[in-house]
Amino acid sequence: MENLSSKGRQIEFHRLKLTKKQQLTKSVFSVEFEVPPSLKDKYKFEAGQYVTLKFLWREDFVQKDFSMTSAPFEGKISLGIKINSAESPANSLIEHIEVGSEVEVSVPRGRFTLVSKPHEFRTIVGFAGGIGITPILSHFKNILFNEPRTRLFLFYGNKSAEDVAFRSELNELKIKYPERFEVYHFYSREKVGNGIYEGRLDEKKVALIINQFLLLDDTDEESTIWDAVDEVLICGKGEMIKALANACYKHGIPKKNIHFELFQEFNEDIFPVEKEFPLLENIEVDFKLLGNQHHTTLANNKIRLLQQLLIQGFPVPYSCKSGICGSCECILEEGEVELLENEYLTKKEEAAGKILACMSVVLSKKIKVNFDLV
Ligand code: FES
Repeated sequence: MENLSSKGRQIEFHRLKLTKKQQLTKSVFSVEFEVPPSLKDKYKFEAGQYVTLKFLWREDFVQKDFSMTSAPFEGKISLGIKINSAESPANSLIEHIEVGSEVEVSVPRGRFTLVSKPHEFRTIVGFAGGIGITPILSHFKNILFNEPRTRLFLFYGNKSAEDVAFRSELNELKIKYPERFEVYHFYSREKVGNGIYEGRLDEKKVALIINQFLLLDDTDEESTIWDAVDEVLICGKGEMIKALANACYKHGIPKKNIHFELFQEFNEDIFPVEKEFPLLENIEVDFKLLGNQHHTTLANNKIRLLQQLLIQGFPVPYSCKSGICGSCECILEEGEVELLENEYLTKKEEAAGKILACMSVVLSKKIKVNFDLV
């Protein structure tokens, strides 16, 4: 799958050898890279992370992010690559690489990660849309392997059965962990004779899933499986994530336990914030990003800081846009902002001036921030 384009920080690349290339569906390929012993430490990763591939496309180098489908214990870098059109960079990449080719692969990055809890009995639910299965697959393999008591439920939406990527890997997991892993497929453009499995994964479907699949809990007759859910993982397109994240929140899952990864530019807030602020216009912003000092003017403070800078074309790093992942953290060196929500910074970090640009509403006519924290 293809993530958002590179998120701003300086990236370290190495040439890795392709050891496998396999077509899974008409538009999805799986590729695998070998990591030589000398680079093992640099390519250590956590489930849910991604790498960036740098390759030539129409005489220019482009960089595209792809989530890993492998789990850390497997010791390899496997990716899922979706071809959206014959004209896309990803299509050109797939056409030009073969087993034995060397490709520039970045060291792993990303914050769509979970803390491992091998001694706990957890219930984790995943929602994947299309190629959004890739980081979820990495997570699920990792959790099933490392957490012997944790149970997992996957709800996987595709247009039709023939679009389901990684079906055989999912089936293998089902056979290996029949007591702890369940997967349900949903098709938006195929009739399967049972309305529950037809249509998109959306808010209504979440209610249905809670009532039909996550109802009875064998381990605790007094509650439902949904009541026991500890973490929710969602990956796919922005509208799907927004609908599902808000539905899960409405049905009682705290925001800090709803983790998601956007695979596309998405200019809306995942969790809308309703709060009024005094209007300020023509706000001067000085900021440091990737070693460069910038100056710009924001028309007003109706939109949060990160979004305004992105609209102006600055490559500010971000991932969740919801105050959860910390990708957009920076230091407020001058001026005032209100941090609407924060699930990432500690009190100490906040006291030291750190803010999350995605959740910051500017409250002074001039601010100065620094995104170069390291
Ligand atoms: S983008 Fe995730 S905290 Fe701001």
